[in-house]
Amino acid sequence: MKVVVAPGDGIGPEVIAPAVDVLKIFHPEWEYSQVYLGYECWKRTGDPLSQTTRSALKEADLILFGAITTPPDPAYKSVILTIRKELDLYANLRPVFGSGFDILIVRENTEGLYSGIEWEEKDRACTIRLVTEEGSRRIARFASSCARRRRRHLTIGNKANILKSDVFFVRICQEEAEKIDVSVDKKYIDALVLDVLQHPERYDVIVTTNIFGDILSDAAAYLEGGLGMLPSANIGKDHALFEPVHGSAPDIAGKGIANPIAAIRCISLLLKYAQERENAKIVEAAIQKVLADGIKTPDLGGKAGTKEVGEAVIKEIIRM
Ligand code: NAI
Ligand code: MG
Repeated sequence: MKVVVAPGDGIGPEVIAPAVDVLKIFHPEWEYSQVYLGYECWKRTGDPLSQTTRSALKEADLILFGAITTPPDPAYKSVILTIRKELDLYANLRPVFGSGFDILIVRENTEGLYSGIEWEEKDRACTIRLVTEEGSRRIARFASSCARRRRRHLTIGNKANILKSDVFFVRICQEEAEKIDVSVDKKYIDALVLDVLQHPERYDVIVTTNIFGDILSDAAAYLEGGLGMLPSANIGKDHALFEPVHGSAPDIAGKGIANPIAAIRCISLLLKYAQERENAKIVEAAIQKVLADGIKTPDLGGKAGTKEVGEAVIKEIIRM
């Protein structure tokens, strides 16, 4: 397997280092390489995502991505959005679980309000929210088949009371869920965000459009103690990219205190994707043990640093 690692900016490299160490315990034989992209790369070269980097990403079997800082460039096009589009990583999976709840947020990852169809005029600016049949059907199918392997329930996060594009999206999601006998309910996204926080046990798989999934999953991070905890998988037909949900956190970068758990959990998702369920479970169990032992970074109320948490997880994995 070819693994390409893109550490990125800010805390990206700090949290990706222990994640790579964890993966290498299971797969020292895989081929690892690194690419540079993002803000630091833009400052050095004027290009945040070079052609060479794009080709390397396209040739990878698995991509591990840290986080990048958005450069202050008016002509800037989001690097992660570009990668998601170029590799057609249409499903963004964001699991959120804890005691008594286990939710999988499935976010459409290539269109919606993040289609990139936008322009500025003299006195107004416009962003098109594009929802296509093909885009909706494939994410609906993906989410429904996830639900079928879980508790067979799909919640469609939407704003169909206001947006025609969501009337369309909901209809397609319902059709796809019915085909494989998954029960469905529809919830308006604003109320859904609150309900997920108050009653997380009510949810199994939640499918939603791009921006709603972005907001819902950051909010749901609250259930696990913050952004430092949540991993994500960006899945397409031919490619897969794993990244923590959080960004480059410039406010704590360079201090050695970033929580590496989201990044390490990306390895658990990656192993699951590679059909190594047992190994994926070992990573998660090691994380749980380390947290139970109180080895935590300051965002979780602890005193440990990034390295200490990473090393503790590695020690547990080796012991298991
Ligand atoms: P952020 O997720 O980087 O940080 C938000 C807050 O959460 C900060 O207070 C930060 O310290 C904290 N936090 C995040 N990850 C943490 C971790 N692992 N451990 C401890 N605390 C953590 O979001 P923000 O501040 O809105 O954006 C910062 C930069 O990151 C911006 O340039 C933004 O565009 C970029 N960004 C990049 C993403 C990506 O590469 N996929 C995703 C989100 C933001
Ligand atoms: Mg986000």
